[in-house]
Amino acid sequence: MIALRTLASALALAAAAAAQAPTCGPDVVVDDFAKTQSAVIGGESRPVNLLGGDYGAQGVTWSIDTAKRAVVLTAGTANIGVPEPQANPGTAPTVNYWFAKFDAGACFDLTKFTAIEFDLVGPAGSDMNFTLTQKAANCADRLVDSAYNPLSKYLRMDGTKKHVSLPLKDFATNLVGGKYDMLHLKDWTAVNIVPAGAVFELSNLVLKGCAGAAPSASASTTAPKTSGGAAPSASPAAPSAAGPSPTQAQKAGAERSAAAGIIGTVAAAVAALLV
Ligand SMILES: *[C@@H]1O[C@H](CO)[C@@H](O)[C@H](O)[C@H]1NC(C)=O
Repeated sequence: MIALRTLASALALAAAAAAQAPTCGPDVVVDDFAKTQSAVIGGESRPVNLLGGDYGAQGVTWSIDTAKRAVVLTAGTANIGVPEPQANPGTAPTVNYWFAKFDAGACFDLTKFTAIEFDLVGPAGSDMNFTLTQKAANCADRLVDSAYNPLSKYLRMDGTKKHVSLPLKDFATNLVGGKYDMLHLKDWTAVNIVPAGAVFELSNLVLKGCAGAAPSASASTTAPKTSGGAAPSASPAAPSAAGPSPTQAQKAGAERSAAAGIIGTVAAAVAALLV
């Protein structure tokens, strides 16, 4: 009887833990820029990435250089003002933007990911803002953009290749202080790329899952110390962007450890029931 009660409460705990457990997936390559391709989206032929999401821009000249395996962006000034006053309230006037979608429908589920990562070469003193634009749950209407986070918050451009990691947790709030809904991403946008004339090479665009973490709850109870997101092998200039990723991975690992501990409790309770 006591064993049954123990089992019941242990199962309830396990269910609660399962509900909280991160639903992280593997890393997903958005684009390696090894080829250019297009697809018909909304009746129009559009340049697309490996996920079938299209690229677009205003006030930015851009092209994919398959020899460099990078998208080359040149900042211009389009004098757009605040393009969608309802979607980007309180932001500085927009001079240009470049965006990538991660699906053809512009309604992408980011909840299985922890960061957007890429390598970037840009001139010293250059900067840009990043935001996640928002679709409503109906995947049709546009809602308020996520908080704007400048590149200079993470690292400074100096003409060499830098590994940039944008932790999604930094975009969890929208521009009016509400919750950004990670289930319904419209697109990932770089806004106000400055100064005019600055040329950037962006490569290896990846959505990071629970980098470096074991894929199954039962596989390991030790949290990995470092994240695959730090990319020690891929990029010679990785150090400054590596900060946020291990924290995420460690947190995910810790949560998994907790879940594994509860599963152990369930196992013990079942064992108690059997004797
Ligand atoms: C980023 O956006 C915020 C909000 O519009 C603005 O205050 C800030 O100056 C921008 N920074 C850059 C580098 O564009």
